[in-house]
Amino acid sequence: MRQMIRNTFLMLVLGSPLGVLADLPGEITLPQDSTSYQANDLPGYPLVLKNCLTCHSSQYVQTQPPGSPRTYWNATVHKMQQAFKAPIPDEEIPAIVDYLTKTYGAEK
Ligand code: HEC
Repeated sequence: MRQMIRNTFLMLVLGSPLGVLADLPGEITLPQDSTSYQANDLPGYPLVLKNCLTCHSSQYVQTQPPGSPRTYWNATVHKMQQAFKAPIPDEEIPAIVDYLTKTYGAEK
C-alpha cells in the first residue's frame, strides 16, 4: 500500500511536467545538461559516466582550477577510489585521467 502511494506520488510529480511539455506546440530545445560530463571520443568518456556520477555530478570536475595537470587528475581519481571508496577498477584509471586532463585540464 505504502509502495502504491509512493508510486502514485512519483507519477504525479514526474509525469506532470512532461505532460505539459507534450502539449506545447513545436519543438522544444532543453538547455544543455551542465551537470554531466562533456561528450567526446576519448575512451575515458564512457568510463566517467559509469564511475563518476554515482556520488556527485560533474560540477566538482568543472570547478577545478583550469589547466590542472595530469598528476593532479591522477591524484584526484585515486582519492575518489581510496579515500571515498569509489569502486573504480584500477585498469580504468589511466583512461579516466587521460579524459579529465584533455577535457578539463592542462591538455585541453
Ligand atoms: C564513492 C563516491 C564518489 C565517487 C564514485 C566519486 N567521487 Fe568525487 N568526490 C566524492 C566526495 C565525498 C568528494 C568530496 C566532497 C566534498 O569535499 O564536499 C568528492 C570530490 C571530488 C572533486 C573535488 C576535488 C576534491 O579533490 O575533493 C573532484 C574533482 C571529484 N570528486 C572528481 C571525481 C571523479 C573524476 C570521479 C570518477 C573517477 C569521482 N569523483 C567519483 C565522492 C565520490
